[in-house]
Amino acid sequence: MIRVTYLSQEALPLSSDAVLGLLTQCHRNNTDRGLTGMLLFGNGTFLQTLEGEAEVVDGLMEKISRDPRHTGMKVLRREAITERLYSQWSMGFERVTEKTLAEIPSLRNIGLRNFNPEYLSSHGEVIDTLLERHRAPHWDPLIRELDARDKLIAQLRGEIANEHMRSEMAALVLETVIEAAQNGRLDEAHVEICRSTLRSLR
Ligand SMILES: Cc1cc2nc3c(=O)[nH]c(=O)nc-3n(C[C@H](O)[C@H](O)[C@H](O)COP(=O)(O)O)c2cc1C
Repeated sequence: MIRVTYLSQEALPLSSDAVLGLLTQCHRNNTDRGLTGMLLFGNGTFLQTLEGEAEVVDGLMEKISRDPRHTGMKVLRREAITERLYSQWSMGFERVTEKTLAEIPSLRNIGLRNFNPEYLSSHGEVIDTLLERHRAPHWDPLIRELDARDKLIAQLRGEIANEHMRSEMAALVLETVIEAAQNGRLDEAHVEICRSTLRSLR
């Protein structure tokens, strides 16, 4: 297996509806292809990490590189792996905002304007910090037996990450519906997406 991490920028400003469409596509395809990973989006910048069988990841990367929704794709890392770091997400998602950065002690002073390919590609530690928060809790089975408290902490971290992901998706759906209502384009598909989001929240 391999893990690939890259940066790119939206070609044109993407509406919430467009981001939701992209994520829906990722969830459907990645589940079928045994891919997992994480997509961060903010300030018009994408930071994505994808993991799975080498030929599947490389094939998708080729496709993504030709996607007109973004530009300036820059691969930061392509590494051989034996274990997944994002096993719980077919494609986890987080919108990066000023608030996201302010909430992370080591990134408090970075500012959203610096969430761009140029800054990020020369600040690997910022990328690691942002991505690390979404990793599946992992611990050695032996240590797990020895320290039940660590196990509980890891479980709680996993649950918090899950809740965070659900609220990210719900926020994106709300933004999409508001956008559609403002443009007078609210239709049955929006109602259906609200229903399915509500089901996932209950
Ligand atoms: C930033 C970005 C990330 C993407 N990530 C994925 C992904 O993880 N999985 C995926 O199937 N498509 C992803 N895509 C979409 C692909 O470029 C392509 O449109 C899609 O795989 C085609 O799917 P289809 O064969 O079902 O039409 C991404 C596109 C962009 C712009």
